[in-house]
Amino acid sequence: MSNLLLADLAASGVKQIPSGYIRPITDRPNLSDVQISHDSIPLIDLHGLNGPSRSLVIKQISQACENDGFFQVKNHGISEEMIGKIMNIARQFFKLPESERLKTYSDDPTKTTRLSTSFNVNSEKISSWRDFLRLHCYPLEDYMHEWPCNPPSFRRDVAEYCTSIRGLVLRVLEAISESLGLERDYIDKKIGKHGQHMAMNYYPPCPQPELTYGLPGHTDPNLITILLQDEVPGLQVLRDGKWIAVNPVPNTFIINIGDQMQVLSNDRYKSVLHRAVVNSEKERISIPTFYCPSQDTVIGPPEEMVDDDHPAVYRDFTYGEYYEKFWNRDEEPRRSGEDDAQLMAREFFKLPENSDEHRRSIRLVTENGQLKTGSTCRAFNEIIWNGGLAAAKSRPEVSNPAA
Ligand code: OGA
Ligand code: NI
Repeated sequence: MSNLLLADLAASGVKQIPSGYIRPITDRPNLSDVQISHDSIPLIDLHGLNGPSRSLVIKQISQACENDGFFQVKNHGISEEMIGKIMNIARQFFKLPESERLKTYSDDPTKTTRLSTSFNVNSEKISSWRDFLRLHCYPLEDYMHEWPCNPPSFRRDVAEYCTSIRGLVLRVLEAISESLGLERDYIDKKIGKHGQHMAMNYYPPCPQPELTYGLPGHTDPNLITILLQDEVPGLQVLRDGKWIAVNPVPNTFIINIGDQMQVLSNDRYKSVLHRAVVNSEKERISIPTFYCPSQDTVIGPPEEMVDDDHPAVYRDFTYGEYYEKFWNRDEEPRRSGEDDAQLMAREFFKLPENSDEHRRSIRLVTENGQLKTGSTCRAFNEIIWNGGLAAAKSRPEVSNPAA
């Protein structure tokens, strides 16, 4: 057995988790504190998007994005058969002999197809109880040839799933654009050539689930995530400082706002902390699709989202720049005593509040009526950024969900 993957260690029947997986006491799941379900995230019926109730559904989506950052959808247009197929293929993949799985192993986050474990084995101090296969999947023809070809129907089944999910994403992005008062195709146009990644997360049973995470609290760095989970609970989202379990509802998808959507909405919509816990009885599989802008897309609050009362919260940046920060944020210097704190990539791209730069941003908006896009805005951003980024870097606002 190699030491690279967790599945094989877990299957060997260990009674105690290795010390590298044990979280400090202040950063454990505290499962008895978690609220179970009586008031979970909203469930939205997408059927109405196609008819006279469209504006009603858009209102529901808008409220969910503002209040929860998360919602579930039914009547999403993806068949039970397809959902069954993708779950099966993931389950079969993680049951392949270790030597077969290891053919796709890599710990390099820039690889476009890779099997790995935990979160980022290069930079993290404590491991998480998860193996995952991560695939880039749009445009399909650029990536499919890299994917595993075992099980034999892997490429065909996954490609079909990706195409269907992309259709769903595009419909939801239109609804979200409208819900922000933007043109229906605003986000579609804004995110360049588009990018789509997916993961197959495998969380083996864990002999001591109270000491570790499947995935520790994080926000998703991309635009929007569409998550399919099997029937085993494990996903939790933070609401008003409390962790809420999102228990599986068969044949629904969970949709959450990612950091880029929070930026594009100038903080009106929330990219919310969430995490996955594990259990001692059952393995769990989840399949998130991460929809993203292309690497060179410039992201920042659109002028339509900025006015006197809502000054731009973020500077412009490229998604590539953001993504790199997301994967390497653990290497940023911390203030003393905050080693275990959760650093959010988002914080590095904020205009520092109450700085001269921030006040100038408000003044510019006020004087001009609206923040202008194009070269003026770009030049303006550069001025603020040269001072602003240095300040944000040396003193990021930190939130620690486990505290
Ligand atoms: C993720 C994620 C949750 C889950 O992969 O980003 O949040 O339930 N997964 O697996
Ligand atoms: Ni996530």
